[in-house]
Amino acid sequence: MIAIACDHAAVGLKEEIKTHLAARGISFKDFGADGKTSVDYPDYAYSAARAVAAGECEKGILICGTGIGMSIVANKVKGIRCALCSDTFSARATREHNDANMLALGARVLGAGLALDIVDIFLDTPFSGEERHMRRISKISHIENEE
Ligand code: RB5
Repeated sequence: MIAIACDHAAVGLKEEIKTHLAARGISFKDFGADGKTSVDYPDYAYSAARAVAAGECEKGILICGTGIGMSIVANKVKGIRCALCSDTFSARATREHNDANMLALGARVLGAGLALDIVDIFLDTPFSGEERHMRRISKISHIENEE
């Protein structure tokens, strides 16, 4: 199950991603927003991030105008490693190196074609499991636990 959420700036791209996920047979849970009325991105990013952190959803996709605000929010939630990606190289690397569990996208930054490629690579690339990457992720958890 993939958590997906957006704000008013990204409803159109979210719908394209949902259509794409459905065509691939990937189930998702939509945490809103649903329309073009101006909303506050922290509310939607937080709901989706909590679902991922709780294990209700295995990964999440957040979309706002830039992707920046939602990625900042998600990374405040314990256990979330959210990567803002605007290219396919970063999408692959953040799964292999950071075991990122959430992807943030900027609907005002990316065209739909590139956004869908980034989504596919993010969802399809496994974590490398290499010792050095596990060690670094474990250090992130330690920082989180000390704050
Ligand atoms: C909304 O105008 C915009 O600020 C939001 O979508 C996002 O880009 C915030 O980071």
